[in-house]
Amino acid sequence: GSGSTVTKRNPVFSTINADDIAQFKEILGEKYVIQDEERLLAANTDWMRKYKGSSKLLLQPRSTEEVSQILKYCNSRCLAVVPQGGNTGLVGGSVPVFDEVIINMGSMNDIISLDKVSGVLVCEAGCILENLVSFLDNQGFIMPLDLGAKGSCQIGGNVSTNAGGLRFVRYGSLHGNVLGLEAVLANGIVLDMLGTLRKDNTGYDLKHLFIGSEGSLGIVTKISILAPPKLSSVNLAFLACKDYVSCQNLLLEAKRKLGEILSAFEFLDGNSMDLVLNHLEGVRNPLSPSTHDFYVLIETTGSDESSDKEKLEAFLLRSMEGGLISDGVLAQDMNQALSFWRIREGVPEALMKAGAVYKYDLSLPVEKMYDLVEAMRIRLGPAAEVIGYGHLGDGNLHLNISLPEYNDNVLAQIEPFVYEWTSKHRGSISAEHGLGLMKANKIHYSRSPESVHVMASIKKLLDPNGILNPYKVLPPSLAS
Ligand code: FAD
Ligand code: MLT
Ligand code: ZN
Repeated sequence: GSGSTVTKRNPVFSTINADDIAQFKEILGEKYVIQDEERLLAANTDWMRKYKGSSKLLLQPRSTEEVSQILKYCNSRCLAVVPQGGNTGLVGGSVPVFDEVIINMGSMNDIISLDKVSGVLVCEAGCILENLVSFLDNQGFIMPLDLGAKGSCQIGGNVSTNAGGLRFVRYGSLHGNVLGLEAVLANGIVLDMLGTLRKDNTGYDLKHLFIGSEGSLGIVTKISILAPPKLSSVNLAFLACKDYVSCQNLLLEAKRKLGEILSAFEFLDGNSMDLVLNHLEGVRNPLSPSTHDFYVLIETTGSDESSDKEKLEAFLLRSMEGGLISDGVLAQDMNQALSFWRIREGVPEALMKAGAVYKYDLSLPVEKMYDLVEAMRIRLGPAAEVIGYGHLGDGNLHLNISLPEYNDNVLAQIEPFVYEWTSKHRGSISAEHGLGLMKANKIHYSRSPESVHVMASIKKLLDPNGILNPYKVLPPSLAS
């Protein structure tokens, strides 16, 4: 019912035996070789409780050298592994499919350096995003990415999924913000690409292979990332629009009129709002008692408090007069701003509380985006609740289908329709979450056979035994 595609364990992989355990204890020390059932259950289960593996072993390295020794050993024994960060991934990439050894990066969580002139932060892959945010805040910097999972996800997981999130519209992709990284290959070789330079055109830029490769090419152990300066004035508006076309026109206007201070443009539909109000405690609609079909959050970040606010207020007034906005409120303080963000960031959590969810993370032309949500509603009828929200400013729709429990008949109505629709409109079937296990077999909807072939050759070159995160990212028939 949950729609996982792989049913057969690849017999080329060995199963762990007593000698392996002894060897891992030798490398890591007893304490970091975990066989405790409760901890294994948590590490085998993904955030959505949709994907579940049956690994018997969790390893917790504390240094690059330890990662290198573990991988070298696993490669020689043909033991499959799953790199795991905060386990907040949404495509089944972070948990084993069968009995793969879980390599959890949480103990590699040192902040190595911050260059206060350039803003370059160097840290280990297991640092939790929110901890980096707090550290930088004290030093007058911010992270160029922010997402709802910040309290648990790790920077190594963010880099490995090329996470997008709420600030993408302003600061862009991690392909631009990550200046360097260190990764360990399947055979244990450490690739030092931990540069801190903004410009460096010396040959192929190998670090980009590891950004967004979801643990299939190597384990990321260290990262250097460009942190923008923290600016003094941040404003957040919570707005209502009468229809989707107004949201779209509001985005165009915001890009033109707010220009360089625009730092987030997010949307959720009325059905998403209802879900949040019904399932999350202490959340209220700031525009109640009225209800609306669409809500938009617009954040500005700039350096001049009075002129930034003036600019935003003038923009809101004009948009209200022009009918693009039907209602709205500007956060008066930090707590109110957090309560607005809680609504948008709370949608995935509310979906989890509502039951089972089929999640689609699509890049689509903005003008076509909501047509898919409406088409899906008509297709499924009352069998399921169809909601749309996401990063409108980046053309990224989160289409989610919520129902009491997973149901193969409903799934057959959704797929392949959703992928075909996306492909027909030249969209992407993975805007920011990655392919993981969920979409390994769907890659051809967004990539040409020739591109997939080159990807499979790169995989073969870097991981000839296919031990790194098997069954994920590429169709298993090509990757092993
Ligand atoms: P995990 O889930 O542990 O792993 C994700 C993938 O990366 C797996 O394939 C894993 O094998 C691999 N991996 C992890 N660490 C390493 C490493 N050190 N080296 C090599 N491979 C590694 N995603 C977005 O893009 N934008 C959002 O706005 C967003 N919001 C979210 C909100 C919520 C509430 C939740 C639950 C998830 C959200 N996500 C979002 C998805 C997810 O949080 C991100 O993909 C995040 O970057 C995953 O980080 P993680 O540390 O939890 O990685
Ligand atoms: C979000 O933007 O809220 C995240 O990507 C999580 C999700 O898609 O549910
Ligand atoms: Zn998202």
